[in-house]
Amino acid sequence: MKTLILGSSGLLGAELLRQFPAALAPTRKELDLLHLQAVAAYIDSTRPELIINAAAMSNLEHCAAHPDQAHAMNCTLPKVLAESSSAVGASLFHFSTDYVFNGEKRTPYTEDDPTDPINEYGKSKVAGEAAVLATRGAHFVFRVSWLWGEGGKNFLSSLPQALAQAQTLQISNDQISSVNNVAEIAGTLRQLVALPHWQAQPGLYHLTQPQAMTRYEHALRMAERMGTACKASVLAAQVQPPNIPGAVRRPTYTAMSPAKVARVFGLKLASGS
Ligand SMILES: NC(=O)c1ccc[n+]([C@@H]2O[C@H](COP(=O)([O-])OP(=O)(O)OC[C@H]3O[C@@H](n4cnc5c(N)ncnc54)[C@H](OP(=O)(O)O)[C@@H]3O)[C@@H](O)[C@H]2O)c1
Repeated sequence: MKTLILGSSGLLGAELLRQFPAALAPTRKELDLLHLQAVAAYIDSTRPELIINAAAMSNLEHCAAHPDQAHAMNCTLPKVLAESSSAVGASLFHFSTDYVFNGEKRTPYTEDDPTDPINEYGKSKVAGEAAVLATRGAHFVFRVSWLWGEGGKNFLSSLPQALAQAQTLQISNDQISSVNNVAEIAGTLRQLVALPHWQAQPGLYHLTQPQAMTRYEHALRMAERMGTACKASVLAAQVQPPNIPGAVRRPTYTAMSPAKVARVFGLKLASGS
């Protein structure tokens, strides 16, 4: 299947490209995704059968400071991708986030729970989901949470090395969600496209492993598996922003139930590690 991956230099996109190695994967220099006419023209000329959008503006502070840019990248771009996918008869995989929720629930969120984002990033992602799902076609929105993986620059990606080197860490213990290895996410999508008639069940899916915990608990478990000690202290609470300009609220509890993707496709993510 001719596949186009957007955002292939990112954490998830790079792993998708490793697992879909024949995919077209234009760099930002080759295709600026905020140049929407160029994006539509690229899709029209290359005519992919599957478009995977792993591009996003996901830095919370940047989104808060530049809500128009966040909306353009996280909502207008996916809308154009959905329209272009429909025009060329391609399927679309778009990613969203657990930050579409306000974090007030204490049992895993399902796809039927109302969204109520508490920051600009979450608002722009909710708008992007709606734009994709409003367009007819084999369009899938996969909500993922806390990603880590090879080459990633975020805290969770650097954790295995930090634990192996017995570094002293400060880790937040005030948010609960599920940690997911991008290799498992990409592998699950490879399994999905190998299923017969997978395009017949488009829509919104939570693509996470079921165990929810804080980053601190995740670090303790990972250290245990690696057979190393976790030299960690808990970072002062971060969910309520400290009194500094630009600090962004994070939802406290955003575990998501992966029951729908298991029920519809028989797909399960394992452990997140
Ligand atoms: N990371 C997480 O923990 C997490 C949690 C929940 C949901 N998600 C969602 O999962 C998806 C993937 O996230 P991620 O963490 O892998 O993202 P990421 O590492 O921040 O990667 C974003 C990608 O988008 C590209 N991009 C941004 N603006 C662009 C532009 N104007 N033109 C071309 N490319 C542009 C970046 O290219 P450059 O390298 O050139 O900047 C990069 O390849 C996103 O939808 C995100 O909302 C992520």
